[in-house]
Amino acid sequence: MCGIVGYIGPQNATPIIMNGLKKLEYRGYDSAGIAVLENGGIEVRRDAGKLERLSQLVHESPLKGNVGIGHTRWATHGVPNTRNAHPHLGMTGDVVLVHNGIVENFSALREELESEGVVFQSETDSEVIVHLIERYLSGGTNLTDAVHQTLLLLKGAHGIVVLSKNDPDKIIAARVGNAGGVVIGYGKDEMYIASDLPAILEYTREMVFLESRQMAVVSREGAVVMSLDEGEIQPEVHTIPWDPVSAEKGEYRHFMHKEIHEQVRSLTDTIAGRVDFELGSIQLPSLNLSPEKVKDIKKIFIIACGTASYAGMVGKVLIEKIARIPVEVEIGSEFRYQDPIVDENTVVLAISQSGETADTLAAMEEGHQKGATLWSIVNAIGSQAMRIADGFISMQVGPEIGVASTKAYTAPLVDLYMLAILLGELRGTIDENQRRQLVADLRLVPDLAGRCLDREGEVKKVAESLLEAQSALYLGRGVNMPTAYEGALKLKEISYIHAEGYPAGEMKHGPIALIDADLPVVVIAPRDPWYDKMFSQIEQVKARGGRVIAVATEGDEQIQQQADHVLSVPETPWMLSPVTTVIPLQLLAYHIAAQRGLDVDQPRNLAKSVTVE
Ligand code: AGP
Repeated sequence: MCGIVGYIGPQNATPIIMNGLKKLEYRGYDSAGIAVLENGGIEVRRDAGKLERLSQLVHESPLKGNVGIGHTRWATHGVPNTRNAHPHLGMTGDVVLVHNGIVENFSALREELESEGVVFQSETDSEVIVHLIERYLSGGTNLTDAVHQTLLLLKGAHGIVVLSKNDPDKIIAARVGNAGGVVIGYGKDEMYIASDLPAILEYTREMVFLESRQMAVVSREGAVVMSLDEGEIQPEVHTIPWDPVSAEKGEYRHFMHKEIHEQVRSLTDTIAGRVDFELGSIQLPSLNLSPEKVKDIKKIFIIACGTASYAGMVGKVLIEKIARIPVEVEIGSEFRYQDPIVDENTVVLAISQSGETADTLAAMEEGHQKGATLWSIVNAIGSQAMRIADGFISMQVGPEIGVASTKAYTAPLVDLYMLAILLGELRGTIDENQRRQLVADLRLVPDLAGRCLDREGEVKKVAESLLEAQSALYLGRGVNMPTAYEGALKLKEISYIHAEGYPAGEMKHGPIALIDADLPVVVIAPRDPWYDKMFSQIEQVKARGGRVIAVATEGDEQIQQQADHVLSVPETPWMLSPVTTVIPLQLLAYHIAAQRGLDVDQPRNLAKSVTVE
């Protein structure tokens, strides 16, 4: 979750940039840096560590320039150290850049540049960008076109900001995909740039939010915004309400809504630095896996609570399918009292957004006492569940403020998928081709999530028809059975409508007695191995006068015929389908609660982290 701040105007840029980076600290980072144009050159200060370290560098060697850019980096490629910290200079020292995102084709680009004599200073993917810009400049292209041409070569999602000492009266900013926002703030004879508006809200409330495949040439007088594909455009200038808390929500009314929409970026971020798409391999170094130890694993207990436990249920299907290791999913509050059968060949894998859930921590302790290896998948950096584990996977999705978990549900689904692939490779249960295919499927995920979000309008319409519902039933099967539990939990915890997730196959053993026209039944029926059974489930509910809201794959005509409402999701590889099928259910719960005028971010009786037993 990198942070970016830029400034051009009459003031000293450094204090403005440093203050802005501080406002973005909540997003998590491991190094920071700043570059300013000064005395005809570029001055850079950067290092691993927090902003205090950067402030110390700036104090020791002050900066005076009034055009500058700053960056807080979340390491994806290359460990946190000085060389890998942004901003990055090119070979000539004329151009400097900060970047948010992943250059998916950076290996090939780096090889190409090195073959042309470029000497890289870092292990980052970002550095290729500044060298490509310089290559265009050396061919006589102007700065704007050099950045434009470079962006067309990059694969992945990016937010970039560029300075050149030979163009001291402009800053170039651009956004491709959803790796992070680029906000342009309008001042009087001064302009601001940021990856998120809290960084610059105290200076201006007039903002332009760059959309994907847009770039801006920013001068003291204003900004010229253009599409990478269709030339200059007139962007909408938003006036942001003066409320720092609401500012952190950007253009959203609730954090939960913002976080649902952040899932393209958060899914990109949770994959970042862990996948080599060229080699088709997964690296999870923070798990501290030893191949020998992995071969000796006889069982994995996945321990979690609430939403996290439903992610664990998906993880069970994936790990058993790919790595053929027996997995049991237990909620924290039960595991700790079960006198569980655990030994040195057992792994206890905790999943926790906060990393401080008392029941989950107690269960980890129980496992540790019995000799298990402790792993955790955690979002909050430095939390207990991260610290006490023998190895961990950071969700790396930035702070989740809304009590109802959304991006911290879809991220662990992907983390568990990556873990299953790595375990399968180490245990030899998948061959190279299978591994490459599984990794290739992963690449689709952020875009598939974006396509689900694009359909928010159809979800909102269905939500309007459910505002008066007294109860709801969610049915799923196989890898999407946990999706039914999670969809039901989202609805009940923010809209206070009773909802129950149920294994679809169990309906005939009792719950089908509940079916009538007043009970909305959400049926999760994407094109997965359980599709046929789920389609007949829809028919059974309809035959009893029930009302069906189906989550179905785009273009599924027979479900369109049968169901009362359809929430479409894009065709998704079945093991990753819980990532896409849950998004319309998140949006459904959100819009019902929001339209009922409830406190979506702070639902009654609930806490974001349940640190009591
Ligand atoms: C989910 O929307 C709820 N906020 C709740 O179920 C939550 O997932 C659970 O309390 C576990 O929290 P954790 O992930 O921080 O451990």
